[in-house]
This record gives sequence, C-alpha cells and structure tokens, in this order.
Amino acid sequence: MTQILPASDEAIAEAARILKAGGLVAFPTETVYGLGADARDGRAVAKIFAAKGRPRFNPLIVHGDSCAGLEPYAQFDERARHLASRFWPGPLTLILPLRPDSSLSDLVTAGLDTVAVRVPDHPVARALIRAAGMPLAAPSANRSGTLSPTAPHHVAESLGDAVPLILAGGATRYGLESTVLDLTSAAPVIARPGAVSAEEIAEILGCTVTYDTQAKERPISPGQLLRHYAPDLPLRLNAVEVATDEALLGFGSMKFMGIRGGGFARDLPPESFYNLSEQGDLLEAASRLFAGLRTLDRSGKKRIAVMAVPEKGIGIAINDRLRRAAAAHDA
Ligand code: TXA
Ligand code: MG
Repeated sequence: MTQILPASDEAIAEAARILKAGGLVAFPTETVYGLGADARDGRAVAKIFAAKGRPRFNPLIVHGDSCAGLEPYAQFDERARHLASRFWPGPLTLILPLRPDSSLSDLVTAGLDTVAVRVPDHPVARALIRAAGMPLAAPSANRSGTLSPTAPHHVAESLGDAVPLILAGGATRYGLESTVLDLTSAAPVIARPGAVSAEEIAEILGCTVTYDTQAKERPISPGQLLRHYAPDLPLRLNAVEVATDEALLGFGSMKFMGIRGGGFARDLPPESFYNLSEQGDLLEAASRLFAGLRTLDRSGKKRIAVMAVPEKGIGIAINDRLRRAAAAHDA
C-alpha cells in the first residue's frame, strides 16, 4: 500500500529510514515531484527504473541539499560555482564531469563520466536529503511516458504501489522540470529547456548559451541524444555457450553453461567471467550491468558473450542497453 503523508518531521524521518534501507520515496521539489533513492546504492537506483517502467537507462539527476554536499560527486569549475551561487537552490541542473572517486552508482550516470546535479528549492526536499544523509537520485515520479506529477495524488495515480511513501508538500511551484545545462565542454549548452532561461544563464556567464540543436529539430528527450557508454569489445547476445576467445557476461545459474570444445563456464578465470546475478534477480543485474561490462572489457578476450536476460520488468532496460552496445559495433 502506498502511504501519502503530509511532510511533518516524523514523516520525513520515516522517509529517511526507507531511503537508508534502500527503498524509494516520492517527494516534492519546486519543479515536479521526484522519485528518490540513495544515489550511491545501485540496487536502490534500479528500483527507480523498475517503478517507472522505463524501457531504458537514462542518466538521473543527483539532488543535494547544498553545493558543498554535491562536491564529492561532481567537478565544479568556476562557471559551475558561479551559476550555483546564483541559481541554487533552484530549478537549474548542471551536467559536470564526474569525480573519479565518486561513490555514486554507475546506474545514476548510465555509465557516463559526467553527472547531472542540482539543489532543489523546496524545504521538504532539502530536509529529506539532510535527514537521510545521502545524495538522492530522482527523476520525475511518474510512469515512463506519462505527464510529470505536480501534486501528490498524481504520483499515487501514476506509480501506485511501486512507491511505498509519498511525502505530500502541496502543488509544485513551477510545474515544469529544471533546465538542464551541459557544462562539460567550453561552450555551455542547454540540453533540456526548463524553468531557468538561456538569457538568465548567459547573463551570469557573460557568454552565449545555445540549445542542443538536435533537440530542437526532433523533440525527443535529451537522454536519447546522449552518446551512451558502450564497451570496446564487441558483444554477442543470447549466448548458450562460450568460446575460448570470449569473456562471458552471465545471468542466473551457470550450471548448464559450457565452454565450446569442453569444460564449464563456471570454471572460467574471474577476469573473463562476470555474473550479473546468480539468483537471477533483475534488480541486482541492473545494478551490476555497467561494472560487469567494464570488467570484461579489460579481460583481454576478443568478444563478450552475453547470456539471455528475461525481457520483463527492468530486464527490458538491461536488454535495451545490451542491444545498443552490440549494435554500436555493427555500425
Ligand atoms: O525538475 C527536475 O529536474 C526533476 C525533479 C525531480 O528534480 N527531475 C527530472 O529528472 O526531471 P529526469 O530524470 O526526468 O530528467 C533528467 C534529465 C534527462 O533528460 C537526462 O537525460 C538528463 O537530465 N541527464 C542526466 N544526467 C545526464 C548526463 N550525465 N548527461 C546528459 N544528460 C543527463
Ligand atoms: Mg521525467
């Protein structure tokens, strides 16, 4: 059952407990309601994708209670600091280089070496982040492909039992997502228009700010325009056995998986074998996907053989990423 609680101190404490235990909480921000999870916990972040029914792993925004609270995860240059001091807390998201030592789950960044960060201007959001003592990964709290929620009952209608607790904080002030500004290259680019305008940003930075031109021509989400992480080695999908020149990305039981020419896959050396989830748990598999691909990319083998992952729930997003990684090599 989903609980909708007015955001009292007790409700925020309860929400923090759920987050610390690796669960999901919906909470108000000044833009739209967010569906939050511990951004450092891959399994918790995987639950966001499962709850939203997102067919692919788009990178998520990491929410902090202050700029200082986000410094351990993103590299702020002078422009970023300047914008943060002017617009935070507020509806501006900055895409910055990921700190190499960041403890974020790579499901949050979709395996990229950049990260989107923002400080929401809502007392409940910031109190929650402080009470939980963690950065919150949070997309809008709605099923994929539906309208973003601007009131608590929208969240309940859209997500139902997929979210155990909704902190209610009234209607959101903007009702429109934050502006996403890409600061990872010399020229700042707006990847998603939102509550803060290009002119306002340009005035602070003292330079021109352009919109992602592709996004203007074809109105699709900026997530789809990203250069996605893909391994260097080619992928062979739906493998039922592994060749001697292949590394193996496994899923589920290895009992019957053989090596072509003799032997068992479960006896492969650790550097050329990675099981996404021995239990066949799709949430665990999602949380280990990028780490698995990275590990096997360094195996010294010629190819990565990938066992079939069930096409259901978050398995759909896992397969989407695997298929696109495989296609990247055919192109
Ligand atoms: O107002 C908002 O921003 C709301 C509230 C909850 O904070 N959040 C939100 O999150 O709209 P979401 O996940 O629906 O949108 C995040 C956007 C996506 O378009 C995603 O592609 C982009 O930010 N994004 C995130 N990380 C990125 C990265 N490393 N590089 C490029 N784009 C990124
Ligand atoms: Mg959204």
